[in-house]
Amino acid sequence: MRRERRSVVANERLGPYTLLRVRRGGIDPGVPGQFFMLEAPGRLLPRPMSLCLAPPRELGFLIDSIGPGTQALCALEPGEELHVLGPLGNGFELGVERPLLVGGGIGIAPLPYLSERLGKPPAVLGFRSDLHAEAAVLVPNAQVCIEPTLVTELIPAGLDVLACGPEPMLEAVRASAPAAQLAWEAPMACGYGACYGCAVEIDGVLKRLCVDGPVLSAA
Ligand SMILES: Cc1cc2nc3c(=O)[nH]c(=O)nc-3n(C[C@H](O)[C@H](O)[C@H](O)COP(=O)(O)OP(=O)(O)OC[C@H]3O[C@@H](n4cnc5c(N)ncnc54)[C@H](O)[C@@H]3O)c2cc1C
Ligand code: FES
Repeated sequence: MRRERRSVVANERLGPYTLLRVRRGGIDPGVPGQFFMLEAPGRLLPRPMSLCLAPPRELGFLIDSIGPGTQALCALEPGEELHVLGPLGNGFELGVERPLLVGGGIGIAPLPYLSERLGKPPAVLGFRSDLHAEAAVLVPNAQVCIEPTLVTELIPAGLDVLACGPEPMLEAVRASAPAAQLAWEAPMACGYGACYGCAVEIDGVLKRLCVDGPVLSAA
């Protein structure tokens, strides 16, 4: 992992989300599901973001602006610079036979890069509105549903599920697909195991999501 200063190539709207594209330089994009800590201008702590796209000279991040850090990231202009640290954590295990990508809302963020690395397998994506669903354009071979239909209703049996989304969605996937790989979230301060800010209890065991995850086996 490396912490480097990188310039913004573009910051584009995609439905209610923002696609932040930064120059890659010599940074390794890592494995899909891994994340980067992005400096949020004017904020003390960086913010964790999954890598969304990894074209040859760029790193792309899909951002939902929900608070001061993400607002600052979404307001960056081309040419402005930020510190980028990563890749961090454990990504998805790519040695699966019949992959199905499952994403909910901003949880689709790691799926475009995952889809590319797995050869564009089928995907099912759930969003809360047509506007949010505009982001589905980033994921090839995707079947899209809008609430009140839930994405978990679209998961056929017998596939290798790789999922990212809100906690209730992940819990539902976990219940129906015990072999699934799930990308979890928790607020993070350091991103590399030093602060314990991301510790979560899973089945009675404390895990630091930044180093033990964010991708964990459902079982
Ligand atoms: C490994 C990882 C990958 C992520 N990838 C992406 C991504 O690709 N795109 C994206 O938009 N967001 C992603 N996130 C979430 C993103 O990091 C947070 O939304 C961001 O840090 C919020 O910062 P803020 O200052 O805008 O809002 P804050 O003021 O920090 O938070 C706003 C509200 O959201 C809650 N919150 C903040 N962070 C989290 C979190 N991680 N989990 C649950 N609740 C939280 C806060 O408690 C608060 O209620 C990821 C998080 C993790 C841990
Ligand atoms: S974010 Fe610091 S230990 Fe995980």
